[in-house]
Amino acid sequence: MGVPLVQRRLLVVDPCDDCHGLLPGLRTAGWDVDSCALQSVGERSCDVGLLRLQPYHLERPEAVKELISRSGTEWIAVLSQDVLRLQNVGDFVCEWFFDFHTLPFDVARVQVTLGRAFGMARLRGKGHTPVDEGHELLGDSRPIRELRKLLSKLAPTESPVLIRGDSGTGKELVAKTLHRQSQRHAKPFVAINCGAIPEHLIQSELFGHEKGAFTGAHQRKVGRIEAAHGGTLFLDEIGDLPMELQANLLRFLQEKQVERVGGSQPIPVDVRVLAATHVDLEAAVAKGSFREDLYYRLNVLQVVTAPLRDRHGDVAMLANHFSRFYSQETGRRPRSFSEDALVAMGQHLWPGNVRELANRVRRGLVLAEGRQIEAADLGLVGEQAISPPMATLEDYKHRAERQALCDVLNRHSDNLSVAARVLGISRPTFYRLLHKHQIR
Ligand SMILES: Nc1ncnc2c1ncn2[C@@H]1O[C@H](COP(=O)(O)OP(=O)(O)OP(=O)(O)O)[C@@H](O)[C@H]1O
Ligand SMILES: [Mg+2]
Repeated sequence: MGVPLVQRRLLVVDPCDDCHGLLPGLRTAGWDVDSCALQSVGERSCDVGLLRLQPYHLERPEAVKELISRSGTEWIAVLSQDVLRLQNVGDFVCEWFFDFHTLPFDVARVQVTLGRAFGMARLRGKGHTPVDEGHELLGDSRPIRELRKLLSKLAPTESPVLIRGDSGTGKELVAKTLHRQSQRHAKPFVAINCGAIPEHLIQSELFGHEKGAFTGAHQRKVGRIEAAHGGTLFLDEIGDLPMELQANLLRFLQEKQVERVGGSQPIPVDVRVLAATHVDLEAAVAKGSFREDLYYRLNVLQVVTAPLRDRHGDVAMLANHFSRFYSQETGRRPRSFSEDALVAMGQHLWPGNVRELANRVRRGLVLAEGRQIEAADLGLVGEQAISPPMATLEDYKHRAERQALCDVLNRHSDNLSVAARVLGISRPTFYRLLHKHQIR
């Protein structure tokens, strides 16, 4: 009966009398309408939001910004003539809202505006998911899906896990995920960056010390290993641990007890040990800078995080995630990306991996002047101009093929049949190429 098949949920916040007259018409048009006051939005989710903007919203705009950033969807402002006259209302609405509507309501026009906002929210893949706390391993590429599956199997075990991968690929996030999904999740997660603590402090930092153990030890200090009791100990950059400490750590792993510097009593400690490295530990063992016995102790189970260039299909969704995530920090509305920005992100090789992507999006969000983040805002303009060194024709063909796959996935990662059609190849050929380039 003309009612759309897709459910479209509209949340009307701080509705006014005129709004109430509008709602039955929207319901008839297929909108599933809910309304509430700003303070009671809580965890309600929606596909599109409508906010009747009042002078008090502009006096204390934080609540509105928080609502819009958290909801992760598009919002329409409803403005009375009085509100329109207020100072700064224009800037505020342009920055934070998808569109606006001035009173009195024109039902047909409202419906068009809401429909566009809904389409835009869908296109950006935002819809129902509110912004998470940034602890989730996001991505839909094959390496990430396999990683999530592997972690769900490893998390409940008590074995040490060695996490390997390039810088910025999410090793620490993997460690936190293993802890969160383990029996130990309610106990501490203690991370130690073995490369960042000065060598003379590391012994007492890890194992603690008793009062008077050395000059300057004015009081007893509980070491980080002990602080992790019952929980998970994450030894980051384990390859940087000095040789002497490697011996102490090994002893701890074997005996499951620590001795504070200057102490005489061993203290039993129950922790699960996770370690991460971006260096080649086997090479370090071979050249004698890493103990082989410690290597075998830590390397019981292994997880490898993939570089972002091998899962280009995740770039656009991660970029949207960071745009929403950083909008709260930067005080700017989450923005989508222009076509040029998406292409530039598809072409970039991401040597700094997800961390680089997060940083570029944060910068882009701050610099963006228009509705969308442009390639220039991300610092990705003119990349193609810096030509790589000459290579064989075969290399050029290989690169071009990979580029085509990345570009098409940036636009059609949710529909591989369409992606194959856009490239003018069959689905099996498309899958074969994805496999060949190890994408998704
Ligand atoms: N799959 C992912 N989904 C969402 N955020 C991610 C993902 N992978 C990494 N990140 C984010 O990217 C940033 C870098 O991740 P992380 O610190 O875990 O990397 P790392 O491998 O430990 O890097 P480094 O070797 O430089 O220490 C973090 O902000 C993290 O939350
Ligand atoms: Mg790290």
